[in-house]
Amino acid sequence: MTEILEFYKCNICGNFVEVVLPGDGELVCCGQPMEKVKAHNPSEEMIGEKHVPFIQKTDEGFEIKIGSVPHPMEENHYIMFVETNSPDKRFVKRKYLHPSEEPVLKLKCDCDNVVARELCNIHGLWMSEYKETKNE
Ligand SMILES: [Fe+2]
Repeated sequence: MTEILEFYKCNICGNFVEVVLPGDGELVCCGQPMEKVKAHNPSEEMIGEKHVPFIQKTDEGFEIKIGSVPHPMEENHYIMFVETNSPDKRFVKRKYLHPSEEPVLKLKCDCDNVVARELCNIHGLWMSEYKETKNE
């Protein structure tokens, strides 16, 4: 059984898919079950500072940059996409990147909180969440 916005990959051919609408069946590619892709835990990884999405609130919504330290954007090592969604998963925005581009995603919305995920072609999936703190 799958859940909305989960990522799965095929370890044989490299297919990488996201669940748009979940179902009860198992995802299979190249004759084998696909592997569910989990985000790295930033606190366990020395490379987290270059990968964890950095989310800032703006006047129009949010700006998501990758890493507190810039991540390489070179042919053999780059951020393949940046994605953001609302915590209730009612909206999703994804930007595919080329190696020469700056890994930034801007999101116009009137929401208070967002989740951001990015995929590095070498170091895998990373995520972070912006939660507005209200002082009341
Ligand atoms: Fe990386």
